Amino acid sequence: MSATVLVDPRRLVAEMRAQVDAYCRSLDERLPAYSYVPLTTDEQRLLVLQSRLYNEIRAAEVYGGWLRTTPEFEVKRLAAHNAEEELGHAQLLMRQLEARGVDPFAYTPPPAQVALFNTLEGLESTVERLAAFPLAGEVLASYLIRKALAAPSVPEWIKEPYRRIGEEEQGHGDYPLELLARYATTPEAQARVRRGVAIGIRLRDQYFRELDEMVFAGQRW
Ligand SMILES: [Fe+2]
Ligand SMILES: [Fe+2]
Repeated sequence: MSATVLVDPRRLVAEMRAQVDAYCRSLDERLPAYSYVPLTTDEQRLLVLQSRLYNEIRAAEVYGGWLRTTPEFEVKRLAAHNAEEELGHAQLLMRQLEARGVDPFAYTPPPAQVALFNTLEGLESTVERLAAFPLAGEVLASYLIRKALAAPSVPEWIKEPYRRIGEEEQGHGDYPLELLARYATTPEAQARVRRGVAIGIRLRDQYFRELDEMVFAGQRW
């Protein structure tokens, strides 16, 4: 859709949510290592845990980094709140790694994981940020956390921290929809929302593939 067409913001937001949901369902057939569901050894699980710890920390840094350049007071508060919350998630994952004698930070991220967060950090408009991260990213993360919690193949020591993380992430997919409906009221803003969702989905998809390569094929960068 071109940037000159203005649609009802509610409709745009519903479309974007449907796009993210469709991507989530497309993963069902072959869930990524990221979800923990297909993993069979603790070595694999610990590697994914380290990878997801990296995400929690980078997420906190991204939210914190947006503060100064977010003029909308409500979004600024949310970003600050999320930054703190993500560090809490990091702490939960660090505990599980340390309890198993694993250095939480002895992890080198694959290229797409670096690129994902650097890209999020570089987004300049509030609407594109909300679309790419809380909307596309957090909805997807929540979806895959629910898969992990429901899977008999995922051991309790992995489920435990994710029960708490999952509870906190529940609301993360909803507030961006509200905010986007309020702010995406020009054709330009709506184009940035579409682009933000595409960035969020595509870069995460690439990260999932590369994490699969690490876990299942021993690839390292
Ligand atoms: Fe988190
Ligand atoms: Fe989150």
